[in-house]
Amino acid sequence: MHIFSEIGPMNAYLKRERSNLSTVGLVPTMGALHAGHVSLLQASKRENAITICSIYVNPTQFNDPADLEKYPRTLETDIQMLREAECNVVFCPDNSTMYSAVSQLKFDFGALDKILEGEFRPGHYSGVALVVSKLFNMVQPDRAYFGQKDFQQFRVISRLVEELKFDLSLVCAPIVREADGLAMSSRNMRLNAAERKRAVILYQNLKQTRDRLLQGDPFPQLRKTVASQCDQNNVKLEYLALADRETLTLLDDVADPSRAILLIAAQVGDVRLIDNLYLTENRN
Ligand code: PAJ
Repeated sequence: MHIFSEIGPMNAYLKRERSNLSTVGLVPTMGALHAGHVSLLQASKRENAITICSIYVNPTQFNDPADLEKYPRTLETDIQMLREAECNVVFCPDNSTMYSAVSQLKFDFGALDKILEGEFRPGHYSGVALVVSKLFNMVQPDRAYFGQKDFQQFRVISRLVEELKFDLSLVCAPIVREADGLAMSSRNMRLNAAERKRAVILYQNLKQTRDRLLQGDPFPQLRKTVASQCDQNNVKLEYLALADRETLTLLDDVADPSRAILLIAAQVGDVRLIDNLYLTENRN
């Protein structure tokens, strides 16, 4: 496994590989890796000759400096996990490699980055789009892998690729969960034992709401039930939303279950968690 922290040596390596017509898959991450990240890596390995995992905690996507400060950093274990998963390349740049100057460049995705996460984390998607654009330009992958876990992020990046004409295919991989259903997240390691138990309420509520929506219950009423259940469990609900899977337009009722997605965000202790669930598994 090759480990690069600078662009020049990585490019020299990639140029050699590309001359053998090897395809390159990129898995962008912020480290603190878990089985969810590894599933993206495995998807890339199935479809590409070379898989690159980038590890970089991107400051411009953190609207809350305390969140950036507390973000787990576990580079040595990450590299060990990537070795075991037979990743070909790790790219772990430092801030001066990614940002030569304080960046003023901003992205605006209209309604797409003003709702849900965009409402609670202003500027977040501008920072994500900036760092992902940089990574796409540096690596020039044939395919890039993202998780459904951050569904709105996937939609934003799809728009970015479309608008800036990045010549690559995007892959959206399913959510990997713990045995009790909690979506795996690097932030889970910040939960204490009691919070970890309570955190499963996000997934439980998604499933209950999905089942009742499919039985015809009205969404506004279901949202109230979820809000009071979260309250009783000392979990601070930020949003529970129903949206169109393709456009991420917010909905009040389900016209077509195969196009609908439920999204949730809540704070458990001081850890902010997100999750989502398709109403039906069949995709358009
Ligand atoms: P990070 O949170 O490290 O996630 C990296 C990738 O792993 C994302 O595409 C995310 O959706 C995916 N992922 C996280 N948890 C997952 C799970 N339980 N199952 C499947 N996939 C999962 O998302 C980011 O980093 C950053 O915003 C980044 C895109 C790297 C830009 O800085």
